[in-house]
Amino acid sequence: MIRRRHGGFRHSKRGLPVRWKCHTTFYGMPAGACAGGIAVVIDVLRASTTIITALANGAARVRAVRTVGEARALAGSAAALLGGERGGRRIAGFDLGNSPLEYSRQRVAGRDVVITTTNGTAALEACGDAAEVLIGAVVNRSALAALAVRLAADGTRDVHLVCAGTDGAVTEEDLLGAGAILDAANSLGIDEHGAMDGRARAALADFRAVVATDGDPTTALSCVFATSIGGRNLIDIGMEADLSPAAAIDSLAIVPRRDGRTGWFVGDRSAERLLHSGRPEKER
Ligand code: MLT
Repeated sequence: MIRRRHGGFRHSKRGLPVRWKCHTTFYGMPAGACAGGIAVVIDVLRASTTIITALANGAARVRAVRTVGEARALAGSAAALLGGERGGRRIAGFDLGNSPLEYSRQRVAGRDVVITTTNGTAALEACGDAAEVLIGAVVNRSALAALAVRLAADGTRDVHLVCAGTDGAVTEEDLLGAGAILDAANSLGIDEHGAMDGRARAALADFRAVVATDGDPTTALSCVFATSIGGRNLIDIGMEADLSPAAAIDSLAIVPRRDGRTGWFVGDRSAERLLHSGRPEKER
C-alpha cells in the first residue's frame, strides 16, 4: 500500500498499489508529481536516445541543461563537449547536434558532454525533485526496466514514466518508448492490471500492437516513428536516418542515471549481466 503525496492511498481493482504511472507529456504535469519517486524521462526522438548512446559509447558523464547560455557556460568551465539542437539542428558553435549517430565512440569516449535540447532537457528539469532520475528509450528499455524494478523493490517509491512530447503535444514515439519499457517491466513481474495506471496500460497495449505486426519489430516501430510528430519533424529537416537507430529495441544495455550530488548523468550498467544471462536476478 502506498501513501499518496497528498495523503490517502491508491490501489488497483486487484488491491495492488498502482506504482507505475505514465505522464503522456511533462507539459501540464502537476508540480511535484514525481517528488520523491523514480522518474524515467523518455524523449525517443531524440534526446533520450542520444544521451543513452553517448554514455554507451564511453562518454564519462552527460549534463542536460535547459538553455543555450547555460550549456555554453557549463561546457566552458567543465571542458566538456557541447551538444544539442534548436529546431532539430545543431546550434551554431556547438561540437555536436542531437543525432545519436554523431555520438560515436571516437567522438565522445572519455569526455563529459553538456547537452541542451528543446523538449527533452526541459522534461528532465521538470523531474528535478524526483529521488532518482533515469533516462529511457526503446534502445535501453530492458536495462531501464530492470533497474527501475530494482530501485522500486522496497515498495516506497512510485515509478513515473515521463514522456517529453513535442512542444506540449503528446507524441506517439514517446508513448511507444513508455510502452516498450512497461512491456519489459511486465516480463520482470510487474503486474499490468495491478501495478500500472490507465495511461501506462494504454501505452503498453499500443507498443504491443505495433510489434505484433508481421516482420521485424524494429522496422515496425521505425515505420510508426516516421508518421509521428517527432519523426515528421526529423524527415522535414532531412534527418530521417535517426529514426531506425531510435527504434532498435534493446540495442544498448546502459541506463543514464542522475548523480544526485552533482546533477550529471552517468551510465548504470547493472542490468547488463542480467540481460546477457537472460535469467531474472533473483534466480542467479
Ligand atoms: C527535443 O528535445 O525536443 C528533441 O530531442 C528534438 C530533436 O529531435 O532534436
